[in-house]
Amino acid sequence: ETPQPADLIVFGGTGDLSMRKLLPALYHADRDGLLAAETRIIAMSRGGLDDDDFRGKVDAEVRGSVPVDDLATWQRFLTRLHHVTIDIGGQDPTGWARLTAMLAGHEQRARVFYLASPPMTFGPFCREAHRAGLVTPASRVVLEKPLGRDLASAQHINDEVGAIFHERQIFRIDHYLGKETVQNLLVLRFANAFLEPIWNSLWIDHVQITAAETVGTPGRRGYYDHAGALRDMVQNHLLQLLCLVAMEPPARNDRESIRDEKVKVLESLRPIVGGEVDRFTVRGQYTAGVSGDVQVPGYLDEPDNTPPTEASQRVETFAAIRAEVKNWRWAGVPFYLRTGKRMPYRSSEIVVQFKEVPHSIFPGSTPNRLVLRLQPSEGIRLELMAKEPGAGEVALKPVPLSLSFADTFTARVPDAYERLLMDVLAGNPTLFMRRDEVEAAWRWIDPILAEWESQSLLPEPYPAGTAGPAGAHELLARSGRTWHEED
Ligand code: BG6
Repeated sequence: ETPQPADLIVFGGTGDLSMRKLLPALYHADRDGLLAAETRIIAMSRGGLDDDDFRGKVDAEVRGSVPVDDLATWQRFLTRLHHVTIDIGGQDPTGWARLTAMLAGHEQRARVFYLASPPMTFGPFCREAHRAGLVTPASRVVLEKPLGRDLASAQHINDEVGAIFHERQIFRIDHYLGKETVQNLLVLRFANAFLEPIWNSLWIDHVQITAAETVGTPGRRGYYDHAGALRDMVQNHLLQLLCLVAMEPPARNDRESIRDEKVKVLESLRPIVGGEVDRFTVRGQYTAGVSGDVQVPGYLDEPDNTPPTEASQRVETFAAIRAEVKNWRWAGVPFYLRTGKRMPYRSSEIVVQFKEVPHSIFPGSTPNRLVLRLQPSEGIRLELMAKEPGAGEVALKPVPLSLSFADTFTARVPDAYERLLMDVLAGNPTLFMRRDEVEAAWRWIDPILAEWESQSLLPEPYPAGTAGPAGAHELLARSGRTWHEED
């Protein structure tokens, strides 16, 4: 299919997300021939740059990271870029006038407003774009996470944006859904016959979903103090993964069927409220420690323009939760979620731990395990029991049946944003969150946040470079389980 011309307007276009993720993704798409010749990328920010300044900035900051192998393609990419200075809610209308002039005559094109800005700007931006007459029937709006900070604020934002755009024009992004292994999870589950019959509480003991990062939060205090791991990672990324593991087979691979099934999972999550919060959740904050041989500061001492406050002391950089999906398929199967900054390694994975065989005739057999590795080095590993060669006593050993994407496929693995941006341009919302999904996720998160906020207790400290606080281990140890750690 030939790509159709589009105008992609990125609000917050000179920010971190844009420079690190969106522009590299668009460059790769351009190089792969996925952007029409006329397609433009218009960054909007308060920056006071003109087109040439912006192109210079992108050339200096993005070119090295992509990396560029062919200068002609890079030059062509740079000519797509424009910059419009804008002051949302401010008095100066010249930015909107300039944007209006640039878009005039292109009403038929797909027009994408990508809001890579804090959530409180979503409503005002949509209103002003509407007032300027820029919202056409072919327009779409992309909302970056976090969508609010609790259910009430998420509903408010959804109402504000929904007053200007139809739900089918709204793309709420969760970049985890664009990751290759995450899409592969659906293929693994629903394009193979052998897994689905055992994908339930009869055969599965528990599921672990981990997103561990080695990075800290230097320079992010302004955002992170008011977010924390639960809002930053669990409400969106980890719950989305849980949905894909737990959902029923959808009837079709279309825009609503998959999202319908995901909402049902979110609505089946057993609420964790009041006194249960301490039993089923753990929060931690990193202190100084050693990360990859380097001595690093604790969260409170991270270099930043803003000094730490009381909010900084209370914010969690690690969260673990024992969740339960209360339905026929999953009754009694815990879903352990965990995420943290300054962990000993970077790894995002889903571990499906099967039960013991019903009757063991060999000593030393351990239960099967399916590990879906999202990053780094995407892959799928099924751990099976095998006999060690030898004529003596039968000795068992778990051996991996492994699929490494890098070894099996030669094609470059695209970044999640690449896939998702192309879906927006094509108008395909399957891998984006519907309003009811986001709100159902907040509905489950809210009581946990409320309980944490009402407590005088601070998060449990853990030294940087370690796998979270002791409480995280106890959360599993209580039922005789352990976290699956990187080999
Ligand atoms: C973002 C969070 O959504 O996801 C960051 O705001 C986090 O705090 C990032 O570092 C992790 O993404 P990835 O793709 O590197 O796992």
